[in-house]
Amino acid sequence: MQDFKKDFPIFQNNPDLVYLDSTASSQKPAVVIDGVADYLRNSYANIHRGSYVISEISEKLYEDSKKIVAKNLWVENWREIIYTANSTYALNILAQSIWRTGLLKAGDTVLLSIVEHHANVVPWLILKEDYGINVEFIGVNDNYDLDYNDFRDKLTDTVKIVSLAHVSNTTGQIFDLENVSSLLAVRYGKQKPLFIIDASQSVPHFEVDVKKLWCDALFFTGHKIFADSWIWVLWAKEELLNTLKPIFSGGGAIGMVQESSFTHSQKLPDKFEPGTPNLSWAVSLLRAFEYIESIWGYSILENHEQTLVQYTLEKFLWLEGVRLIGSLDAKKRVGVFTFVVEGIHSLDISDYLAEENICIRAGQHCAEPFMISLWVNHTCRMSLQVYNTQEDIDRFFDVLLQAISELK
Ligand SMILES: Cc1ncc(COP(=O)(O)O)c(C=O)c1O
Repeated sequence: MQDFKKDFPIFQNNPDLVYLDSTASSQKPAVVIDGVADYLRNSYANIHRGSYVISEISEKLYEDSKKIVAKNLWVENWREIIYTANSTYALNILAQSIWRTGLLKAGDTVLLSIVEHHANVVPWLILKEDYGINVEFIGVNDNYDLDYNDFRDKLTDTVKIVSLAHVSNTTGQIFDLENVSSLLAVRYGKQKPLFIIDASQSVPHFEVDVKKLWCDALFFTGHKIFADSWIWVLWAKEELLNTLKPIFSGGGAIGMVQESSFTHSQKLPDKFEPGTPNLSWAVSLLRAFEYIESIWGYSILENHEQTLVQYTLEKFLWLEGVRLIGSLDAKKRVGVFTFVVEGIHSLDISDYLAEENICIRAGQHCAEPFMISLWVNHTCRMSLQVYNTQEDIDRFFDVLLQAISELK
C-alpha cells in the first residue's frame, strides 16, 4: 500500500501515534501547514478593494480556494461557494435564512434521517420551538441504510425541506442520495421540497458531484478534509442564493447603508460573507484540495480506504463480545466504525487505548437521536483516513483485545 503517512508531519513528530479519530478531525499534510505559514509570512493582507500587490495576491488565493472547491464538487460557478465557520454554523445560518425568506411556514415539515449529526438537527428544532414547524425523522433498516419505504411514506404535502447526511458519522453508511432525489422528483415534480445535503463525512472520503446528486444546497467542513478548523463550505444553487435573505450582514455584504435603511449586496458570494473572511483558512483549504489532486485525486483516496475498510471489517468479525453498529458491506460504507464492548464502558476502552497512544473517540458522537433509537448510550468510534495503514489497524485490535481481557 502507498505510504501517505510521510506527508503528515504529526506522524514524524510522534512516531508511536496511531490516529484513528479522523471523523472528528483530520490531520494536516505538510503542504497545508507550510502553505498557510508561507501565506502569513509573505503575502497576507485583507482582500477586496486593496489595489496594492499583497492584497491582490490574497484576493487571488481566496478566489483560487473557491475555484478548486467548485471544481472538486463539479460546480460550474465558483461564486456559488460560500465560506463561513463550520458545518454547525452552516446549517444554523441556512435554516434561519430559509425561515427569514418565508420558504418555511408554521406547520411545514422538515424531513431528516435518524442518523443526522446534531448540526443537522438542532437548527431545525430551533425553528420548531420558535415558530412551530414540524421536524420528522426517517429511520434506517437492519443494514443501516436509509429506509426508503419509510421515506416514501413520509413524503406528505407539508414537506418543504429534506435535509440528509450523505454519510453517517456513526455508521459510515453511504446513503444513496441520487435515489432520494429521484423519489422527490417522482412525488413532487416541479414543486420539489428543497433538498439539502450534509456532506461533512462524504467529501473527506470520496468524490461528490452536486449535479448527480441533484440537490439545492450542500455543505461540509474544512477541518475534516486536511484543512484548518473553522472553515465551512456551503454550495447552493445561484437561484436559491439570490432568493435567500441572509440573517447576518454588514461590511462587504451590503448594497448601500443609510441611517435608517440598508440593502443586501446582490453579488455572490459577498451577500453571504459579511466582514473579513478567514483568509488563512481559505488558503489551507486550497492547499488541502491541491494535496488531494497531487496524490491523483479521489480515486486513490477511495481505493486506499476500501482496502483498509475491508481489512477492519474482517477483524471486527472475529471479535467476540463486540457489537459493531454499522453494515458489513464495505462497498456501502466509509472507514467509520462505531462499536460497543459488552460489559465495558466506552470511556474505559478509549482511556486504555489512549495510554498506548491510540486515538479513538467515546460517547454519542453528536448523534443522540440515533443512539436513543438503538438503546445505546455510550459507544466507541474508530475512524480512518488516507494516512492510516494496516499496521495501525493491527495495533488497534491488539490493544483492544488486551483492554477487553483486562477490563472485563
Ligand atoms: C455528518 C456531520 N455533520 C456535521 C458535523 C459538524 O461539523 P463541525 O464540527 O465542523 O461543525 C459533523 C462533525 O463531526 C459531522 O460528522
